[in-house]
Amino acid sequence: MTTLRVTGLTKSFGQVRVLDGVDLVVPAGITAVLGASGCGKTTLLRLVAGFLEPDAGTIRLGDRVVAGAGRPVPPRGRRIGYVPQEGALFPHLDVTANIAFGLSSGRRSEAGRRRVQEMLDLVELPRDVGGRQPHELSGGQQQRVALARALAPAPDMVLLDEPFSSLDAGLREETGRAVARALRATEATAVLVTHDQGEALSLADQVAVMAAGRFLQVATPAAVYLDPASPAVASFVGHAALVPAQALAGSATSALGRVAIRGAGDGRVLLAVRPEQVTVTAADDPSALTAEVLEVSFFGHDATVRARVLGSAGPVDLTARVSATGVPAPGARIGVRVDGDVLAFPEDLS
Ligand SMILES: Nc1ncnc2c1ncn2[C@@H]1O[C@H](COP(=O)(O)OP(=O)(O)OP(=O)(O)O)[C@@H](O)[C@H]1O
Ligand SMILES: [Mg+2]
Repeated sequence: MTTLRVTGLTKSFGQVRVLDGVDLVVPAGITAVLGASGCGKTTLLRLVAGFLEPDAGTIRLGDRVVAGAGRPVPPRGRRIGYVPQEGALFPHLDVTANIAFGLSSGRRSEAGRRRVQEMLDLVELPRDVGGRQPHELSGGQQQRVALARALAPAPDMVLLDEPFSSLDAGLREETGRAVARALRATEATAVLVTHDQGEALSLADQVAVMAAGRFLQVATPAAVYLDPASPAVASFVGHAALVPAQALAGSATSALGRVAIRGAGDGRVLLAVRPEQVTVTAADDPSALTAEVLEVSFFGHDATVRARVLGSAGPVDLTARVSATGVPAPGARIGVRVDGDVLAFPEDLS
């Protein structure tokens, strides 16, 4: 099991600084790198894999410095399996040849054949797909073959760049779980790049939240969601409405009235209100704030309602998670109540 340590990693393309002094430690297990499109995720993976050279900073794999001190170690010498964002399989090779591609034993040797079969078992594909061409596989099966190819040479570390982004929701979850099981079985250290929060929170041991070429927080899924390091992390990972407020002795007053808070002391704060902390009630509920429904998203198992709180302190938009039955219509008047403890940040942190 190898630990990846990235220190002060900087990379520009022309005038644009894509990574700006990035520090990251990836221990054994699965680390998800979560960030918006264009924030530098693929660039980070390509630097770690050795397809790009950093402008500054070092990359260590275990006790080896592979970039940043002297001559960089070439990609083949890094013992890294890479599943790229697009076009992962060689289209002219069958499944067996794809998986055996990086094996020194070759596909025809007994050891090579055995390894390919082991890999098909590991990624939970039937052995008889070995003779098929990539275009004869479903999208989910292709992703599993791409992972099998990356894992076949028993790398110390596996990098996966949005491996499930082309799959539909159901297949995505199933493939994600199978890939996570395969990664855990091999005990490789893995970095999984995604911009899907659910995927990051449910599959990874550690989540690294990235924005504009830096990491905002690197912690367990529960810590990133329940104790976000900043308002930016709170609103990016899971939704949160950010509302300015004045805090005193464990509660805060804002356009939402008075709510119990946690996380900040007295003074100006920013509240991060999660959808599950907002209850929708009747418009004439005297204990609730009056709001107008702006938008409704129906998910089947539940729904979210985006509503504008109407009050003297100026409008505030909140999102509520509600049960799938009795979802209000856009334009309707409703009551909303915010239940503490709402997360609060000192205002200067934003
Ligand atoms: N070879 C390159 N030459 C010039 N600019 C590049 C190059 N590679 C990436 N960039 C730019 O660097 C920025 C980060 O790109 P990168 O591919 O790392 O983003 P990403 O986080 O992987 O995004 P996505 O989620 O869309 O895949 C983008 O603005 C991109 O246009
Ligand atoms: Mg990318």
